[in-house]
Formats: sequence, structure tokens, C-alpha cells
Amino acid sequence: MTIKVKYKSDLDTPCLVLDMDILERNLEMMQAAADGAGKNLRPHVKTHKCSSLALKQIEAGAIGVCVAKVSEADSLVKAGLDNILITGPVVTPGKIERLIDLLGLSPNLMVVVDHPANIELLDTALYTKGLSMGVLLDVDVGLNRTGVRPPDALALAGQIVSRAHLRLRGIQAYAGHVQHIQSYDTRKQSSHRCLEGAVRVFREIRASLPTCTIFSASGTGTFDIVLEVAEISELQVGSYVFMDAEYLAIGSADDDTRFVSFAPALRLLTTVISANHKGFVTVDAGLKSLYKDGGKPQVIIPEDSALVYDWFGDEYGRITSTDNSELPSLGSVLELVTSHCDPTINLFDKYYLTRGQEVVGTWPIDLRGCSQ
Ligand SMILES: Cc1ncc(COP(=O)(O)O)c(C=O)c1O
Repeated sequence: MTIKVKYKSDLDTPCLVLDMDILERNLEMMQAAADGAGKNLRPHVKTHKCSSLALKQIEAGAIGVCVAKVSEADSLVKAGLDNILITGPVVTPGKIERLIDLLGLSPNLMVVVDHPANIELLDTALYTKGLSMGVLLDVDVGLNRTGVRPPDALALAGQIVSRAHLRLRGIQAYAGHVQHIQSYDTRKQSSHRCLEGAVRVFREIRASLPTCTIFSASGTGTFDIVLEVAEISELQVGSYVFMDAEYLAIGSADDDTRFVSFAPALRLLTTVISANHKGFVTVDAGLKSLYKDGGKPQVIIPEDSALVYDWFGDEYGRITSTDNSELPSLGSVLELVTSHCDPTINLFDKYYLTRGQEVVGTWPIDLRGCSQ
């Protein structure tokens, strides 16, 4: 792809930049962790919304990918990806029709189910098209968002198995509520505790249905913790590719003050556009380019500075200094680690790919806006 800019300093801001060396290290690190424990990796694409990066994850060794929505799966299938798991239930007739059309193009497509009415609707729709589909039972391990609680899971599994057009392939148990627990030890205990019920469910299903081999689980915050759970067959981690301020602040096995396993590959570049006040300067990235969720974005360049970002309306941010050191001058460009990567990415059309100071390409954020 021809690009007009050659160096990071030529980029117009605000924009998203991917440090490819860091990104590749993150991919290798997660793949090696999964491989070392005999687990598969099925990364969640909701984080980056980019088919080029999804292909890179497959090249690095992932067996497939996860998406949250049918429209995301649609874009990925068109980009040549296979083995896609939709991690949220698809329940309306219109969306089920879209799902089944996609299944015609991508027979390995799977979806989670968590309700008898959904099971019936899906099975009937598949019957009319003469197709069958692999499904995972979504087990709620305490996030209380989707899924069936463990005591009711076996009965629902029985309903899936009784349907001619659904193939029960296993379970999904995503413990989203424990991923950001600050203390590593507390996170570890909470993760093991909340997965106990799902492990029992999986064992029982597998005992009567040996073809049920998939136990898909985990976010980035518990990636190394779940490796100890023998029943888990694959990790559906997402944020590790980029990292964000929310994740960098939690403790890890080697350092309980910060997450050291993965480094921030995604940065947002923003320029000082006004410097007329004593205690702060104004930059060109506000709510429309930095989603406000979790902690504040971190100023990563200039390195080791005492600069702090805060939102300053839709279009602007405010930079202050915690130690009264000199503020960046008009026109300076700062690099920030985003507060929460997923929703921030959904605000942009592309990533600029960099190696050192050089811009080496771009990737479109082609799943942007695929929220249906
Ligand atoms: C169902 C599901 N699985 C996996 C993930 C990935 O989690 P993380 O980004 O913490 O790695 C998410 C993220 O929200 C999710 O909703």
C-alpha cells in the first residue's frame, strides 16, 4: 500500500498508531503461553476490529477468532477468515437468518446459546435451510450478562443435544467481572472459584458426549491463571494485542503493581493546539477520539514525564503536570495509551503501522461500526 507519510512526525493528529515490534511481541508471548500449556488460542476481534490483524493472529498460530456480533463475523468471512465463534447469543429471526446465510459461506461458524427459546428458533431456522450448526453453551460464571447459571446448564445442554440441527461442541465461560481485579492473588482465587461450576458442567457434558471438546474462556487479565485449569481448551483473550491504561494498572504474577506480560502497542497521537494558560495546555484529542471509560489515558511520550491527560470536551484534552515541570510547547505531539482500547478504536478508520519512527503502512479498521 502506498502511503504519503514516512515518519511518525508527519502524521496528522489525532490518530491511532501501532508499534509493530511491540504488537508482534505481544502476539508471540500469548501464543507461546497457550502453546506451552497445550491450549488453543481463539483471540477476540472485538478489541481491534481489523481483519488484517485477525489474519496476523492466525498466522501466529491462533485456531480461529471470536467476535461479539454477526456483522463482525460477516466482515471477517468476506476477508477470508474461518473458524469464527460469535460470543453473544443471536436471538431475533432477522439476525438468525443473517447468521445462517453466513454459515452457508463459512460452515465452521459457531455461536453461543443460553435459552430454550433461542435453541428452538435457531434449530427451526436451520431445519428450513437444511443446515446444521456447531454451538457452545454459554455458562454464566458470575458476570451476570449472558449465559445460564451452572445449576441450570445441564438441562439446557440436554435441550441442545435433542435438536437435530444443533451440534453441541462445548461451553463458553467468560469471567469478565474478574479480569481487572487489581491484586494478582485475589484475581487468581476469584477466577478459579468462579470457574468451578463451569468445570463441573463441562466434565458432565463431556462424559456423555465425548465430541464436546471446546471449553472457551478467559480475558487478558486471567490469561496465565486459566492455563492451570485442565478442562479449558482455548483462550478467547482480546486486549493483550494492544493493552490499555486499564489493563496496565493491574498487578501480574511477577509484579503486583502493574501488568508486565504485555506492552502497550497501541498509541494515540495528539498535538498541543493551545498553550495560553499557566497550568495546562490543550490538545486536539477529546471524547470523540478517546473513549472515556476506566482510568485516564497515560502519557507515554514524552517518556517518564509527569504529564497527565484529562478530557476537555468533545474535541479537546487538557494536559497538566503533577510536578510543575515544563509543559509541552505549542505544536508538540504526545503519545497516549488509551484508557480502554476497544471503544476508542471504534472511533477511528485506520491504524498507522510504525517501526521505530518510520511509518511502514496502514490497516483499515474495517469492522468499525459493525455493532449489529
Ligand atoms: C465474551 C468475551 N470474551 C473475551 C473477551 C476479551 O477480554 P479481554 O479484552 O479482557 O482480553 C471479552 C471482552 O470484553 C468478551 O466480552
